Amino acid sequence: MKINPIKKLSVSTKASSYNIYFGDNIFDNSEIILKEYIQERKIIIVYDQKLDKHIKKLENSISYISSKLELIGVIGGEKSKSLEKFASLSEEIINRGVNRESILIAFGGGVIGDLVGFIASTLLRGIDFIQIPSTLLAQVDSSIGGKTGINSFYGKNLIGSFHQPIAVISDVSFLNTLSKRELISGYAEIVKHGLIKDKNFFEWLTRFGRQVIYGDKDLRIEAIFKACSIKREIVQEDEFEQGQRALLNLGHTFGHAIESY
Ligand code: GLY
Repeated sequence: MKINPIKKLSVSTKASSYNIYFGDNIFDNSEIILKEYIQERKIIIVYDQKLDKHIKKLENSISYISSKLELIGVIGGEKSKSLEKFASLSEEIINRGVNRESILIAFGGGVIGDLVGFIASTLLRGIDFIQIPSTLLAQVDSSIGGKTGINSFYGKNLIGSFHQPIAVISDVSFLNTLSKRELISGYAEIVKHGLIKDKNFFEWLTRFGRQVIYGDKDLRIEAIFKACSIKREIVQEDEFEQGQRALLNLGHTFGHAIESY
């Protein structure tokens, strides 16, 4: 069995410590990473229905290490970050038999990660969750740092919590099927990390950015790893956004306003 190299970054906050794993096709052997966390605990995977093709692999990997597995498909898209979806999905998860040892796995883009993370933070007053982000945007931003939440009638992410995942698995093989638009919007977040914190990285992107967007997998892993390292530094120092974490909102604040308009 061939296993591609896996890079690892640890995040340590006041609330918890966890690893982010980076690689290509690590998902094929994700049990190698997941067995440390799962050990016969009940697993509920909430996934974006668009990822139907990949879910079988994850299911197979997990069935090696836990016989207690449930799958729930959800329609991705901003509309799912609603109070109604929060309520119906929470009920569905409870109905599948959740306990304090259970782990939720969020498999999808930022919407799924934010929604499932928020449910994990409230179910039984808080249970563990793992992020498996499938978009570039989620891999470099929303899957790390513990911000979870849903939208209110009055604006985005107004109902939420800080709840750190117990692990994040970022596999660049998912990026091969993203549209150019999705890749560019994720790439903009990578550039943001360079702009706010690291001139050398920003300059590196001016040389290699195109290859990152158009699919060189080693450069993609390097760019994602670097962007996550920058975010990690900020989150470790200011987990609850009392100060410099607000830098990470560069582009988001007015972006959200434009979107809701
Ligand atoms: N997405 C901005 C942050 O995590 O603070």
